[in-house]
Order: sequence, then C-alpha cells, then structure tokens
Amino acid sequence: MVIGAVITGTGKNVPDKVIPNSYFESYLNTTDEWILDRTGISERRWASEVTSASDLALPACFNAINSSGISKDQVDGIICATVTPDYIFPSTACVLQGKLGIKNGFAFDVNAVCSGFLYALTLANSLIKSGQARNILVVGTEIYSRIIDKNDRTTCLLFGDGCGAVLLSRREFENEESSFGVLNTNIGSDGSHVDILCVPNGTANTPTAESLESGAHFLKMNGREVFKLAVRKLAEINRDIVLSSGYQLSDVNWFVSHQANKRILQSVAADLNISADRVPMNIQKYGNTSAASVPLLLSEMNDRGDLKKGDLIVLSAFGGGVTWGSALIKWA
Ligand code: ACO
Repeated sequence: MVIGAVITGTGKNVPDKVIPNSYFESYLNTTDEWILDRTGISERRWASEVTSASDLALPACFNAINSSGISKDQVDGIICATVTPDYIFPSTACVLQGKLGIKNGFAFDVNAVCSGFLYALTLANSLIKSGQARNILVVGTEIYSRIIDKNDRTTCLLFGDGCGAVLLSRREFENEESSFGVLNTNIGSDGSHVDILCVPNGTANTPTAESLESGAHFLKMNGREVFKLAVRKLAEINRDIVLSSGYQLSDVNWFVSHQANKRILQSVAADLNISADRVPMNIQKYGNTSAASVPLLLSEMNDRGDLKKGDLIVLSAFGGGVTWGSALIKWA
C-alpha cells in the first residue's frame, strides 16, 4: 500500500475592483501598449481598503473544502503562503482557522514570496505522506496593493490581489504505478540575491518618519535581474522535476507556472521546446498575484474542466529570496 496526497478540491477569489492599464496612463509616464507588450498584463484586481488577505482567502477556502466533499471539521491543518499577512503575528493561517470555524489541527504561514504556494504544498504533501494529517488546506493569498509604491511605474502596475486554495487529502493506492496526486516536489533558495526583490523595512529597523517618507516599506525590485534569474531557474526546475520522476517533457499535459510576466513564460516554453497551449496563463486578467498565482490558475482550470483524470501537471514558481519550487502532479 502506498499513501498518496491528492488535490480533492480547489477554490479561488479575487477582489471585484478591476484596475485596467489605462488607470496608470492617467497619472504615470506609461502606456497600455508598454505594459501589455513588456508583461502581458491588461488589468489586475485590487482589494478595497478594508479587505485583508484572510478576507480574500475565506471564500476560496470554503470552495476548496466544499468541492472536496469533506466537512470543515475534517480539515486537520492549514498552511497559508503569504507575504502580505493580516498581522505581523498571529499568522494569517490562524486568523483563517478562526474565521472558518475550524477547531482541529494546526495552522501556520509560509513566507517564500512568489514560491510560497509550492513550499506550502511540499510541506502538506510530506505531512500527509508521513501519516501526520489526512486533509490539509493549502492556501496562497496576497494583497500586494498594500505593499507597492503606486508612484513607481517599474513595479506598481505588475501586481494584483487574489487568492487560490487547494484541499490536499490522503488517499491509499496499491502501488506507486497506480497512485495519483503529488508525485514529486522540489524547493530551493539562494539567499545571495535578497536585495533584488524585497520590502526593505521590516522589523530589522525601527520605523521612522524618514523610512516611511523614503518608501522603504514598499516593494523594491531590480526587474531585469529577476527576469534573467527567473527564466534560467524556471526552465531548469521544470525539466528536472519531470526527468527525475522518470517522465519526459512530452508526457506533461500542463505546465502551470507562476504568473509574473508573459515573456518569462514564453522564454521558458521556448527553452523547454513545449507549445504555448500547454502553458496556461491568466496574467492578462490578474497580473502577478505572488503566492496566489499558481493555485488561482489551477483552480480556474479545474472550474473550466480543463483538467482530466490522469493528466500530468507541473507546478512551478520563482520569487523573492530568491526562492523556487516545483511539483509534479497526476490529476485524480
Ligand atoms: N512604462 C514605460 N516605460 C517603462 C516602464 C513603464 N511602466 N517601466 C520601465 N520603463 C522603461 C525603463 O525606464 C527603460 O527605459 P530606458 O531603456 O530608457 O532606460 C525601459 O522601459 C526598459 O526597462 P527594463 O527595466 O529593461 O524593462 P524590462 O523589459 O526588463 O521590463 C519588467 C520590466 C516588466 C519589470 C521585467 O523586468 C520583469 O517582468 N521582471 C521580472 C519580474 C518578476 O518576474 N517578478 C517575479 C517575482 S515577483 C515576486 O517574487 C514578488
């Protein structure tokens, strides 16, 4: 008997408020053409001023639980990937646990920036396969509209708010060959690139009027450097997870990758020699939603009925840290 960890439910949620590229044309030195051409983004969603990351996550989590067919009392863990938590502490996962009315199990956050969902999925997979949990809610939820400098044209138009969630459940199979669900995962990081993508003012320094004034509490990014590293690493990790699991790239139905930039995804597809129709995108609608982007896209694909039993899916992401993560899944 082999223990498997299978995605049994998915959910998503985005704020109602649509911010089209024309919004930035109205006050920044930029154009719809530049944004669309350089990033693939047409619009993004920004939450209202009173909406938190846990508020956004709540409907997505209920959907993931309900579509899995279990009751919320059977959820015995919540792992929430976010870098825009409701509070410094307690964790957004604990806030969510309270809002969902779940009394059992554990709840904690993971910070791996845009790779956060892959880190959270890796942990959930290990906890289920080691027999420590049966059903884990794995969530990516972000409100980047709170941490972007809305006057910085090199970053503010790239990011959107959103949430995606999956319910990962224990299933038993006769052997490895007949098993479904998460087949393999891989996560990694390189802390020598901390500065190329960060929010500089955390709790290392006491916030001051000057630090607020200088914008140190907002996201800073060297886009060109991130772009180069992301293309190289995403191609490498997509190839590695497939080959190290005994498959070929041609066996994979879907490459569901972090939605940071259309050109990054196109470059990775070209490097791997895979056709564009196997690299789904929703970046045009939502921009970069960081830890939410992979489960948001996966959930949309599931809702559309794109995912068929037995489909091989590679999930992958690259983000601040720098961090990266990948997972190979056989859809159940
Ligand atoms: N509108 C018009 N012109 C602009 C804008 C804008 N919004 N922003 C920059 N420009 C100009 C620049 O000033 C520059 O002008 P110059 O040539 O006269 O100096 C020119 O456009 C090109 O600038 P680049 O920075 O080289 O533009 P690039 O093609 O690299 O695109 C972008 C910028 C979209 C940010 C790209 O670098 C990118 O997507 N990087 C990766 C981002 C990413 O993947 N993030 C993922 C991780 S996110 C996370 O973990 C939170």
